[in-house]
Amino acid sequence: MTKQIPKASNIVNHASLVSAELRQRKLGQSGCVLWFTGYSGSGKSTLATALEKALIDDHHFAYVLDGDNVRHGLNRDLGFAAEDRTENIRRIGEVANLFADAGVITLTAFISPYRADRQLAREVIGSDRFREVYLTTPLEVCEERDPKGLYKKARAGEIGEFTGISAPYEPPLDPDVIIDTSANDLTTCVAQLIAQLRQDQVITA
Ligand code: ADX
Repeated sequence: MTKQIPKASNIVNHASLVSAELRQRKLGQSGCVLWFTGYSGSGKSTLATALEKALIDDHHFAYVLDGDNVRHGLNRDLGFAAEDRTENIRRIGEVANLFADAGVITLTAFISPYRADRQLAREVIGSDRFREVYLTTPLEVCEERDPKGLYKKARAGEIGEFTGISAPYEPPLDPDVIIDTSANDLTTCVAQLIAQLRQDQVITA
């Protein structure tokens, strides 16, 4: 999949005076994207926000882009039809790319159910600084948790196209990180991701 050509013509990229290397040296970290994917209720937002807090407490620069939050603003014109989800993820891929350019440890928490959409995000952001984090929490566990009562509504037919119930989820084939929040506590999952960031030399301290 390739990036689409802009609608506008006569546009020219303007180069920054700050190289990636200089930014990295000044910030003491390199920008990256941890791309969480999994069912609603699998723990994406909980884990991403806990990791964000741990990183900030440790003087790193991290930020969560969360599906429910972004759908209140930037993506408020989008619903849950397949093409809307694709556009949701396309925009988030672009935003996450800018955050990574800015040097931020960017944590995206979207179901992102389609492989091709996640692959496009990987291509836009660059494989070297994109890590797909698959939350394998089984659907039954997510449904049991049902933190927002949405599975109940979906089963009752009150919400259509609900992921796992009436809309598809395509699991990653080769995720960079696998996390099961039903088998490990939050602290263990956060530690696993911090170890990954160290291994990738995103953070050194
Ligand atoms: S995505 O599929 O486009 O990646 P996104 O992560 O932005 O989804 O939003 C998912 C969140 O929206 C869920 O956690 C849930 O709270 C809410 N939601 C509301 N309707 C649906 C639906 N039909 N399918 C999935 N999630 C839904």
